[in-house]
Amino acid sequence: MKPYVILNAAMTLDGKIVTAKNSSNISGEEDLKRVHELRREVDGIMVGIGTVLADDPRLTVHKVDATPQDNPVRIVVDSKLRTPIAARITNKDARTIIAGANEFKYDFLVSDRCEVFRKRDVEFFFSGDKRVDLNALMNYLASEGIEKLMLEGGATLNFSMIKEGLIDEIRICIAPKVVGGVNAKTLFDGEGFDTMDEGVDLELIDSYRLAKDLILTYKVLK
Ligand SMILES: NC(=O)c1ccc[n+]([C@@H]2O[C@H](COP(=O)([O-])OP(=O)(O)OC[C@H]3O[C@@H](n4cnc5c(N)ncnc54)[C@H](OP(=O)(O)O)[C@@H]3O)[C@@H](O)[C@H]2O)c1
Repeated sequence: MKPYVILNAAMTLDGKIVTAKNSSNISGEEDLKRVHELRREVDGIMVGIGTVLADDPRLTVHKVDATPQDNPVRIVVDSKLRTPIAARITNKDARTIIAGANEFKYDFLVSDRCEVFRKRDVEFFFSGDKRVDLNALMNYLASEGIEKLMLEGGATLNFSMIKEGLIDEIRICIAPKVVGGVNAKTLFDGEGFDTMDEGVDLELIDSYRLAKDLILTYKVLK
């Protein structure tokens, strides 16, 4: 049992989702509205801890009309429970689940940080030994009523999710921009596949221009 997972991201023509100096203002205002419309449609939004540490996102619906009930459940994949106490994702605007790994569970549960999070109604789910078990997490999210999940990065989590066969659809905004940089993260980093044959095949199902950007939708072929 797992949610239907849509990976959404913005990238430059050269596949970068952020520069090496952490500048990630990529797509136009129209695309940001499209992203928030998608957030309003889904039951959950998931990001990796790298994205929380870099961007401190709110992950709420705030660029289009919405009520507090439109905010999806926010999930942070964070094995070592490094989410900062001041992170905006832990505010009470929406339900938040931090997914940690079992090795770090007990020390965390008795810590003052855990107490602070609990006072804000932040929830926890533990799986995997040293790293979050994404299959177990998907199973848990489905059991919590999350049928449609938006994956909002970053590069490392995106690769693990596609490698595990957990992404169903990819929606990409390509901005007409090139930034280069060997250290700038791409849409999928991680350890990568060794051969093209091992790569994940996609089928283009939609494409359109949105102001200066290009929106592409792919189905992931299993
Ligand atoms: N342009 C866009 O659309 C867009 C969208 C989102 C993010 N971004 C950018 O992406 C960058 C962050 O990407 P990132 O690659 O550094 O971080 P990330 O993918 O957000 O988070 C990766 C971290 O998640 C944790 N994790 C736990 N279990 C995992 C598992 N099974 N598989 C993979 N990761 C797991 C790991 O840390 P632990 O082991 O400590 O748990 C890992 O280092 C930011 O700079 C952000 O601006 C861009």
